[in-house]
Amino acid sequence: MPEPENEELMTTHGRCPVVHFDHNSQDHSADPVASYRALRESAPVAWTSAHGGYWVLSDYASVFDAARDDAVFSSARNSSGGEGLTVVIPKTPMHLHIPIEIDPPDFRKYRNVINPIAAPAAVERQLARIEHYTTWFVDQVIESGECDFAQIIGVPSIVTIDWLGLPVEDWRRYSSAHHAVLAAVRESREWIQATTVDFPYVSQQMRDTIAARRAEPRDDAISYLVQQQVDGRSLTDEEVFSMVELLIAGGVGTTASLVSQTLVWLFEHQDVRGRLIQQPELLERAVEEFLRYFSPTQALARTVAQDTEFHGCPMRTGERVLLAWSSANRDAADFERPDEIDIERWPNRHAAFGVGVHRCAGSHFGRAMAKSLLGQILERMPDYTIDLSQVERYPHQGTNTGFQRIPARFTPGQRRLANTELGFASPSGRGRA
Ligand code: HEM
Repeated sequence: MPEPENEELMTTHGRCPVVHFDHNSQDHSADPVASYRALRESAPVAWTSAHGGYWVLSDYASVFDAARDDAVFSSARNSSGGEGLTVVIPKTPMHLHIPIEIDPPDFRKYRNVINPIAAPAAVERQLARIEHYTTWFVDQVIESGECDFAQIIGVPSIVTIDWLGLPVEDWRRYSSAHHAVLAAVRESREWIQATTVDFPYVSQQMRDTIAARRAEPRDDAISYLVQQQVDGRSLTDEEVFSMVELLIAGGVGTTASLVSQTLVWLFEHQDVRGRLIQQPELLERAVEEFLRYFSPTQALARTVAQDTEFHGCPMRTGERVLLAWSSANRDAADFERPDEIDIERWPNRHAAFGVGVHRCAGSHFGRAMAKSLLGQILERMPDYTIDLSQVERYPHQGTNTGFQRIPARFTPGQRRLANTELGFASPSGRGRA
């Protein structure tokens, strides 16, 4: 629980409270909602000395204001607080990600490249692919009457890999590599496997695919990217790599987390599950509420780019700042009964996809995948039960929340696809990008 620290630190940070808080600690992971509530109610803008020191913003107003001010709260790669991905604390060793680690004005050029392939109309063209892989995954387990929901939700990973034009049979390596880097315990077996084996393997495969598509474009998203221009020149292979890696990192774990947390909650709230089964049209708004309530991306970071006074706190150039989207989403000043799920809540201006120019580029994709998965599971496994004594949460809840094991049982059903092979051939012949 956050508590004021000693006098000396209080003076160092002016009038602003110094708290014992570490979003990566086991204490916080035990109950992130309570931990953030205590912080938000006592010190919504506070300094902690964890990880070399950072500001933590936990009410909606401060998260919103910081996320909208790129001139002061920079996302650009820098060396404050070490080397590595700049939007997480502590920084994690990772290749530059574009456009999330670029500030305006250059940011806009790269975001303009991504927007057309992630816009609602583009996602509409991918619905058959999404639905196909959801069906394929459910088919794998539907006859047996039992499964681990944490596995079945590999759909976001496989859809993203296939959409990009990477080999679908390697989807597990992509998802475990990206997941472990952000959610596994540092130096654990899973983390070492991810950083020393899987990451180098998938990185090389991405580089090879980028080079191959440049030589001979196909109809996938990587082929689209290698043909785009910024400042009147083609994107380099390095830039394309930075975008592809971010598209995988951004979409795979987040959507899986949203669906897994929702499935567990719906097991515990059979009345709401019944309503969604009876009235699937409610799923649209319900997904927004699940996004708010579960906030799969809990918090991301910025770096102060110029000395400033922010919400009464003096912030200095180079200081790191954590923006807690999840805590903003539970702020009673902005959401009535914030700790309750109301599947018809509207309007619902949640910050689960971020706020400001870096707001999630894949939000339409994420929503479409979540709706497809939840829709099919509720339709084909309507009576599923979960053994709550056996569910396992990610050991860390600091950046991504979610479950790594969800043992479930249901009345067996029938497969839908005649072909049990993994690939997807667009029936309309339309491409991926
Ligand atoms: C439930 C699903 C998702 C959640 C909760 C989520 C969350 C977020 C958040 C909070 C940000 C803001 C980052 C910041 O301000 O620093 C973001 C950015 C981003 N997300 Fe997502 N995301 C989801 C799905 C996806 C998917 C499916 C993709 C890709 C297909 C994706 C790609 C991206 C990209 C490229 C950015 C960077 C945008 C930029 O810098 O302009 N996300 N996401």
